[in-house]
Amino acid sequence: MTTLALMYDRIRWEEKVLTKTAEAGGLNVNRVDAKTVSLDSDWSIEETREKFGDIVLQRCISYFRGLHTTAFLESKGLNVINSMDVTLTCGNKLLTTLKLEKAKVPTPRTLLSFTEDSALKSLQILGYPAVLKPVTGSWGRLVVQLKDKDTAQAMLEMRSRMEGSLNQIFYIQEMVERPPRDIRTIVAGDHIIAALYRYAPEGEWRTNISTGGKGEICKVTGELEDVVLRAAETVGGGLLGVDAMESPEGILVHEVNNTVEFKGAASVCDVDIPGAIIEYILKQARR
Ligand SMILES: Nc1ncnc2c1ncn2[C@@H]1O[C@H](COP(=O)(O)OP(=O)(O)O)[C@@H](O)[C@H]1O
Ligand SMILES: [Mg+2]
Repeated sequence: MTTLALMYDRIRWEEKVLTKTAEAGGLNVNRVDAKTVSLDSDWSIEETREKFGDIVLQRCISYFRGLHTTAFLESKGLNVINSMDVTLTCGNKLLTTLKLEKAKVPTPRTLLSFTEDSALKSLQILGYPAVLKPVTGSWGRLVVQLKDKDTAQAMLEMRSRMEGSLNQIFYIQEMVERPPRDIRTIVAGDHIIAALYRYAPEGEWRTNISTGGKGEICKVTGELEDVVLRAAETVGGGLLGVDAMESPEGILVHEVNNTVEFKGAASVCDVDIPGAIIEYILKQARR
């Protein structure tokens, strides 16, 4: 029997349904709490496989915890979904932007600075309003609109006084003229499992489900499919949440999520999302 190691740091709804679906699909599931592991560089491939399983699904919420456990298990010869390379890229918005840009996948124009003064220069080039984001992070946290120079100065000052070197990286993006929604697609390998619009709630501009965004089924057009699948392939492929926006020039990809949440999608889409995810994992396990 094939054992799936499900690496987590918190059991959400997604981890519960994935466990149930995997077991129903004939997999033995070994849930591993990343907060309790003690990984030993001396372990052999066989020992590592014995302790964890034949294939690993990485579901840690903490980016760095996920990245480091994936690095360890992958280097010990286990197939981890997603790979360390994909995790590294998707967990960092700048690395994602650069890959998308290089592959000519439409993505918002982004400027990078490391001090308040140079960030204000970036804003002079981009114009207002613009968007300031942390390079690592999710759920819309600290993603702010810079409406004018005063707001920008205040936000940049606050960020520069925050602890941690990641807060000293100013990733500043053009504000895309989109409707009050974006599009979340869930991708497994070379196809889109599900797609939904996410509408920003009243009084909020961000569309994240975690900020109260509401989902609605989204029909996948040829353009959406083309842009999303190229984005997924460009970052290295796997199980991904590719997020897109409808700009006046067409579909843009603004983010690729490495450990995709799909509770919102499952509540509006008529497809069996956990079923499709487990099917993808089974296919990888057989390779
Ligand atoms: N450049 C942009 N133009 C317009 N809206 C944006 C832009 N970037 C982000 N947003 C909005 O903010 C939300 C959060 O941004 P995102 O880059 O996805 O960060 P997070 O990883 O925190 O979800 C997006 O879902 C979208 O609604
Ligand atoms: Mg997002």
